[in-house]
Parts: sequence; C-alpha cells; structure tokens
Amino acid sequence: MIDGFGRNIDYLRVSVTDHCNLRCVYCMPREGVSFLPANEILSDDEICRVVAAAASLGIKKVRLTGGEPLLRQKLWNLVALIKMIPGIETVTLTTNGILLGDQVERLVQAGLDGVNISLDTLDPIEYRRITGGGNIRDVREGVKKALMWTPPLTLKINCVSGAAGKEHLEAVAGLARTFPVHVRFIEIMPLGLGRQFPLICQEEIVKQLSKTFGPFTPCPQNLGSGPCQYYTVEGFRGRIGFISAMSHRFCTQCNRIRLTADGCVKTCLQYSGTNAIKTLLGQEASEEEIAEALKKIILEKPEGHHFRESLFRKDHFQTDQISEEQRSM
Ligand code: GTP
Ligand code: 5AD
Ligand code: SF4
Repeated sequence: MIDGFGRNIDYLRVSVTDHCNLRCVYCMPREGVSFLPANEILSDDEICRVVAAAASLGIKKVRLTGGEPLLRQKLWNLVALIKMIPGIETVTLTTNGILLGDQVERLVQAGLDGVNISLDTLDPIEYRRITGGGNIRDVREGVKKALMWTPPLTLKINCVSGAAGKEHLEAVAGLARTFPVHVRFIEIMPLGLGRQFPLICQEEIVKQLSKTFGPFTPCPQNLGSGPCQYYTVEGFRGRIGFISAMSHRFCTQCNRIRLTADGCVKTCLQYSGTNAIKTLLGQEASEEEIAEALKKIILEKPEGHHFRESLFRKDHFQTDQISEEQRSM
C-alpha cells in the first residue's frame, strides 16, 4: 500500500525474538539487557495472522530478524507457514550466522529465499572482541553450508564498517571476489551503543577498496529491495553494497514496516512502536480488523529518521542505554 508520503510499503521485517547469543559492542552491553518474558513473544500463529493481514495490504516480502532469529525454536516451521500465506513472495532471514550451519538445510527446505549474515571482520580475535565472545568458525561453517545449496540461496554479508576499523574492510570485501555473495558495508547508526562508534562513510570505503580491487561501477538504482546501493567490481562474483543511513539518507525510498517480537508495529527504526496490533491479537480480532489497524499505522509512517539531529540531543538516546529500537533492527 502507499503511505502518506507516496512510498510503496511492501516489505515487513518480523523480529521473532529479542534474545541474542552474541553481545556486539555496538548493540548490547556485556552484561546483557532485560529480555521480554517468554509469554510476551508472539506465537507462530499470531505472527502469521499479522503477516496475512499485511499481505492483504500489499506486503510481498518478509524478513525474519531478531535479536538472533535462529534462537527461536524451530524457526523453519514459521518460514513454511509464512511462505504459504497468499501474496507473500519471499521470506528471508538476517542472522549472525552462529547457528546457521545446523539449521540452513531445514530452513531452505521450508522455503527460505535468502540469508543476510552479519560479519564485521574476518579476523578471529577481532571477531571475538566485537561480538563479545563469538567464534568466527561457527559463522564460516554456516556460510559454507549456505553456499552449497542448489539452486543458490541469495547470500549477503553485512559488515558494520566502524566496528573493526578500516584495515579489516579489504578482507571482508574480498569475500565477494571469492564467493557468490554480496558484501554490504553498513554505516553505524546512532542507536543505543552505536552512538559511540566512528562513522566511516561510503565514499571513503569506495576510495580505499578501489585502490586494492580496481574501479567500483555503480549498479542501477533499483537493484534489490532495500536501502542498499550496489557496485560491481571486475572479477568479483558478488556485488559490493553500501547501506548509508547517515551519509545517504534513504528515507524517501523506504518500503518497510517492522513487527517487534512482542507484537508492536514500528514504521521507522528510530521511533517507538505502537501496540495497537498487539492489543487486537489479544482480543482475537479478525484478519480484516488487523489489516484495518495496520493501514492506519502505515498512513502515519513518518517521513524519515532524524539520526543527525538526535546526535546532538542528549535526551533522545542515551549512550549507556541499549535501545529497543536497535534490538529490533
Ligand atoms: P534486503 O535488501 O532485503 O537484503 O534487506 P536489508 O538490507 O534491508 O536487511 P538487513 O536485515 O540485512 O539490514 C541491513 C541493515 O540495513 C540493517 O543493519 C540496518 O542498518 C539497515 N536497515 C534496514 N532497514 C532499515 C531501515 O528501515 N532504516 C534504516 N535507517 N536502516 C535500515
Ligand atoms: N548501526 C548499523 N547497523 C547496526 N546493526 C546493529 N546495530 C547497528 C547500528 N547501530 C546491524 C547488525 C546486523 C543488522 C541487522 O544490523 O550488524 O547486520
Ligand atoms: Fe546480536 Fe545482532 Fe545485536 Fe550482535 S548486532 S548482539 S548479533 S542482535
């Protein structure tokens, strides 16, 4: 459906858990955070009711996120259920990859169309530092298994460019030369702990990587379904992309809404969600009633984020406080 600013909203991100098995430095404090009680997390049935209502409004793509989505019990069952909903064309997953090796086969058999894997460095020690104890071997194992699939799964590597430092970027980009995967560099956003990290912007990375790999040629604007701008590089099997929320604000093309693990709907990463749908789910509302409520929420989607402004407003986000906004990214 078209929102109040003429944007076609066809993409729903569903956070299936707020738990995570890592503690990335820009996301979670070492001591962890207070997680939602289990009875607050939406069931498969509740998620499917919301997805079906969203599909009736024109949502075609669903991405499962977390926390870490693979921590949810038998996520493949949910994938299969969502794939059966009329109007839903693709179901994809964003994961840290630690548990991917064990689950990829069942997920693909259930109909999963693609996986985005977070990997900020290829250096095992730096990986352990950034993720608060993660073992990069587990992620490599997951990527290896995902690569073996025929027909090939769409695989993308997400690298938060300010996490490990510039000297790590070549190795991560090189994955797209060796393997048929797209590597995307994400500008850190000032959400929660992310405020403490340096912003390495797109132009700077393109300049640095071109010295090693040769010229970067921009791809047509409409490639992919998200905010990523892609480049091709000669000899590379995958593309190099940039998700630059800060330096290339992409809100005018935003196509998405989010369902949090406890049933709130968020229409922008930066703003708190509304619990209108959660209430309706509790009242056993019909799909039509849920769709009607979703329609109202989508019409109120804000024009965009104000990350830059929030950087200068102490009251907006506190550096020492993990924000719920970030954990349902
Ligand atoms: P596809 O293009 O479908 O592969 O997905 P995606 O890139 O939107 O999904 P992914 O979960 O891999 O997200 C990658 C990064 O994009 C996230 O870490 C965010 O930094 C950023 N991102 C995704 N959605 C939004 C959004 O609505 N607003 C902003 N500012 N950033 C977003
Ligand atoms: N800014 C940008 N990306 C972030 N991620 C987590 N926190 C931030 C932030 N503050 C990324 C993760 C993962 C994706 C879902 O979000 O690395 O790739
Ligand atoms: Fe977990 Fe993702 Fe946050 Fe890292 S960025 S702690 S993998 S939710």
